[in-house]
Amino acid sequence: MLRGKEILLGVTGGIAAYKALELVRLLVKDGADVGVIMTAAAREFVTPLSFETLSGKGVYTGTFDTGRGPSTFHIDLADKANIFIIAPATANTIGKIATGIADDLLTTIAISTTAPFLIAPAMNVNMYNNPVVQGNIKKLKKLGFNFIGPEEGGLACGYEGKGRMSEPLDIREAAIGILTPKDLVGERILITAGPTREFIDPVRFISNPSTGKMGFAMARIAKHRGAEVTLISGDVPLRPPSGVEFIKVTAADEMRNEILKRFEKVSVVIMSAAVGDFLPKETKSEKIKKQKGFTLEFNLAPDILKELGAKKDAQTLIGFAAETERLDENAQKKFLDKNLDLIVANNLKDPDSGFGADTNRVTLIDGKGVERLPLLSKEETAYRVLDWLVRRSGKKPLHQFI
Ligand code: C5P
Repeated sequence: MLRGKEILLGVTGGIAAYKALELVRLLVKDGADVGVIMTAAAREFVTPLSFETLSGKGVYTGTFDTGRGPSTFHIDLADKANIFIIAPATANTIGKIATGIADDLLTTIAISTTAPFLIAPAMNVNMYNNPVVQGNIKKLKKLGFNFIGPEEGGLACGYEGKGRMSEPLDIREAAIGILTPKDLVGERILITAGPTREFIDPVRFISNPSTGKMGFAMARIAKHRGAEVTLISGDVPLRPPSGVEFIKVTAADEMRNEILKRFEKVSVVIMSAAVGDFLPKETKSEKIKKQKGFTLEFNLAPDILKELGAKKDAQTLIGFAAETERLDENAQKKFLDKNLDLIVANNLKDPDSGFGADTNRVTLIDGKGVERLPLLSKEETAYRVLDWLVRRSGKKPLHQFI
């Protein structure tokens, strides 16, 4: 998601500098070109060689580095950057940026670049709470500088409190958010994900192998593209994307209630959850004893999407059809039966698609035509489904992801 992006990473002198190594690894893995600038204090904690090895390029250290081209190379660096991340950012560097001091390469670039900033402070809790530091952060935020963290927890100095640098994965996510064009602003999207569980006794349930990956990817990308997102999910071990309203549910009925509570206020519903089709006729209050062959009886579960289709007003309804045979025919039928605007169909027998896979090969059917997408990551698939949504409102998708 960061393919082709020029990222400048400023590393200042704090023990969290070691975590910046992991950040470089993640950004490079995502396709970004990462230029690292280290202050003198940062070089006391971690060597430039570590950053050079991970970024695949030389590390910038001094304003007057020889062998870096003209003496104005800091301006070239500043101009080329799509984003300037400072992680970890010490109280000292934050203070210098807030007051316009440029006495090393990092702060000289900070004053020269027009790229957006993402600053991840890391320091002792008393330093962080110091009114001068707080004043500097407040000033920078007001001027449009983005901050992430710091987090609460154990600090290297032995203190407990706010001061830990945010985790590299969260910094990367925030950077993606800043760099993603906002073509879904104004949309309020409700997304469902994961499986539902129906208990037959206090310790057993029937469910399906849905992992929630597709719905979580959809929520994450929709949020990055500027939508207000609510994610309602069955039990899955995934971390909800940041900035998204998250509701965890268990049974189909619970999912239905949470959706209906919000349906009138949203502009789009994306039903990527694998809602169970059958409800046990009864849930035993005690554990069913081990026994030879017994029968369970089921009722039909509420078809949530069909109910929404019958109810819908201006909402756009997107459903999923996971099929094992006659993909187009079955998906078309569901599209009409549930009164949808789009159905995303995939073949569960395709080993690259469906439950648990990181990829998907889907067909989009919207009543106007059929679009077969190639094998894509679930993130890319989410992008393409959301592109359909942007185009539907007469706009052009802004990203250049594919
Ligand atoms: O009819 P089928 O279950 O194949 O339809 C799939 C679509 O309907 C999915 O979008 C799924 O989330 C939704 N669905 C639902 N309620 C059910 C079963 C499926 O909303 N009980």
